[in-house]
Amino acid sequence: MHPRAVEFETQDWTVGVIGLGYVGLPLAVTAASRGLKVIGFDVLQEKVDLLNSGSSYVEDVTDPELREALDGGARFTADEADLSEADTLFIAVPSPLGRNRQPDMSFIEAAAETVARVARPGQLVTLESTTYPGTTEDYLIPAIEKAGLTLDVDAFVAFSPERVDPGNELHTHQIPKVVGGVSEVSTEVAVAAYRRLVENVHAVSSARAAELTKLLENTYRAVNIAMINELAQVANVFDIDIWEVVDAAATKPFGFQAFYPGPGVGGHCIPLDPQFLAWRARELRVATRFIDLAEDVNIHMPDYVVGRITELLNNAGKALKASRIVGLGAAYKKNIGDDRESPSMDVLKLLERRGAEVGVLDVHVPTDRLARHGLHALENDADLSGWDMAVVLTDHDDVDYEAVAQQVDIVFDTRGIYRRRGIVADNVHAL
Ligand SMILES: NC(=O)c1ccc[n+]([C@@H]2O[C@H](COP(=O)([O-])OP(=O)(O)OC[C@H]3O[C@@H](n4cnc5c(N)ncnc54)[C@H](O)[C@@H]3O)[C@@H](O)[C@H]2O)c1
Repeated sequence: MHPRAVEFETQDWTVGVIGLGYVGLPLAVTAASRGLKVIGFDVLQEKVDLLNSGSSYVEDVTDPELREALDGGARFTADEADLSEADTLFIAVPSPLGRNRQPDMSFIEAAAETVARVARPGQLVTLESTTYPGTTEDYLIPAIEKAGLTLDVDAFVAFSPERVDPGNELHTHQIPKVVGGVSEVSTEVAVAAYRRLVENVHAVSSARAAELTKLLENTYRAVNIAMINELAQVANVFDIDIWEVVDAAATKPFGFQAFYPGPGVGGHCIPLDPQFLAWRARELRVATRFIDLAEDVNIHMPDYVVGRITELLNNAGKALKASRIVGLGAAYKKNIGDDRESPSMDVLKLLERRGAEVGVLDVHVPTDRLARHGLHALENDADLSGWDMAVVLTDHDDVDYEAVAQQVDIVFDTRGIYRRRGIVADNVHAL
């Protein structure tokens, strides 16, 4: 075993994290809970100040967990120079899509520049941001070389995708971690380091394989969600309840995994990640037809939802224009307050554009945040009886759906929550 791998496995060391968001902060707090020293770096001073005061802005990290990390010596800084004390640099910066839905590599590029300035001998540098295969080699090998270090001699480079699932009870250290280095030695060193953080590390032969693993996982989800979204539209013209069919198919003990339809895909991962692969594959002249088709189906789901809403209103003798419609849920998935890329938002904005009077009620997304989107946000205990229609866009648990159906003439349920709750009412219509 490489001596540095042995040190990571047997000695105490200092974890450096670059980017303290949904991914980086849980990682930092997990490392602290495993008894390691932690230095977390973020470019935003206000985030750093909040963290150092014991206040977490990430739902999956509670304030007591954060305070425990601080008491254990974890430190948060906006000064990248502090990272030179760290033995690892785990990079968890954003990797969004830019204009024309092309990967925006500027954050990874900036983090690589930080690495070039602060890296010191013995450090392991890993990228956790989701990205196209080849990124770790393209950005981080030059970064350590710029720092005057030699790969596998006095610096080690790897990729390890983050699989954190906001709102999921599974803790970061319980989720198996895939790790692939840019060389055999780097893989060995990175695997040894991650073994101190998580219970189960799965090594792959290269950083590229690790990068593609993440993209496979999320492409698989995007494609299957698109498939069921298409089938939901087909089922509707046959007057068949798609949820009943999925539940029936799910009784098969093999060969079927249940996916459920909805108003589209959202969040920071499923709508974006496959595009990294498609973009890079296009550059290399390889077609990604499944990805393109899935994107096409999912991106048009809000239009389909608005079409169904229009039809339901029409059947009740009402026009969409000037109808009062309240959206239940603005987050991209249930029980979290994250509205990034949320298809619920797309539906609400489309309804507004077509002249409906739109309100939104979300038990997780703060009302001032909804107001910043220009939406009329209702308080959680609002009486809905003055509204023509309620549309369930995000199926948060903490909502009295039965009461909603009693207060509003028409309910359109895009998430199948009424069926799951066993609530039967004539005025509830499923996607
Ligand atoms: N959120 C998820 O559920 C999730 C799951 C798996 C993978 N990912 C991936 O993980 C990566 C990070 O996502 P996130 O959700 O944590 O993003 P985020 O926006 O919540 O956090 C990123 C943090 O990085 C900081 N930052 C930006 N540039 C920086 C720089 N140059 N140096 C230091 N800090 C910098 C930002 O201020 C922010 O606090 C992305 O690639 C994302 O695709 C996210």
